[in-house]
Amino acid sequence: MTNSTQLRPVLELENVHKAFAGIVAVENFSLELYAGEIVALVGDNGAGKSTLLKMISGVHRPSSGTIRLNGGDVNFTDASIARSRGIEVVYQDLALADQQPVYMNMFLGREAVRGPLRLLDRRKMMRETQALVDELDVRIPSARALIRDLSGGQRQGVAIARATHWAKKLILLDEPTAALGVAETAKVEKIVTALKERDIAILIISHSLDQVFRLSDRICVLRRGVQIGVRETAKTDKNEIVSMITGVG
Ligand SMILES: Nc1ncnc2c1ncn2[C@@H]1O[C@H](COP(=O)(O)OP(=O)(O)O)[C@@H](O)[C@H]1O
Ligand SMILES: [Mg+2]
Repeated sequence: MTNSTQLRPVLELENVHKAFAGIVAVENFSLELYAGEIVALVGDNGAGKSTLLKMISGVHRPSSGTIRLNGGDVNFTDASIARSRGIEVVYQDLALADQQPVYMNMFLGREAVRGPLRLLDRRKMMRETQALVDELDVRIPSARALIRDLSGGQRQGVAIARATHWAKKLILLDEPTAALGVAETAKVEKIVTALKERDIAILIISHSLDQVFRLSDRICVLRRGVQIGVRETAKTDKNEIVSMITGVG
């Protein structure tokens, strides 16, 4: 932490609360996330992890509480506003357009255009897509391939490549390696580490405690919507985290 911009959190959550039809999904959650920091969010199914992430990205609105990005209050009304503010998300359920080629997915909602008629610049999008997937070592048949023809690992690679391409400040990852094999998982972890080096703040949801301990600087535990605690990864161990997750021990 050498300069003042790094001293201010990229993301601040203050008493963020979410209820769906009266049922509490996330209860008074507070967390600060700094540039170049990886925070892992862990907890059992239904703990509220995805809901929390969706409030940050603008998919859900908090019932109460405050979300600040670089010190300014945000009131995202939809996910495109979050995107325009430098937040990128890789959702658990991927959210890629199945019938579209890889390059269109890479630029979804931000298509490159050319000339006074603003025609789609497909050549440029294909070229940039190819460069990006090559750089991240995501192997796909071509930038023209349709998403529906790709394997789970390839799709995940595309979703992550898209997020890393556009993320400027903050990236939110919901179980990014849940469907991947060992080699693909290692690749994704390498990419996440590279994002950290780019000074991007990262919030990652993961069921793999091995992964959490490999990647994160801090670990935040949720249980049934309640924030149980936050630990520095270097100062805790799996036993403590497991007992925080389960409430046993
Ligand atoms: N759109 C929704 N409408 C109603 N309830 C929801 C919705 N999304 C999530 N929930 C509920 O909120 C709780 C937390 O869910 P979720 O955030 O998906 O948990 P996690 O990602 O930790 O598994 C669960 O009880 C779930 O059923
Ligand atoms: Mg979830």
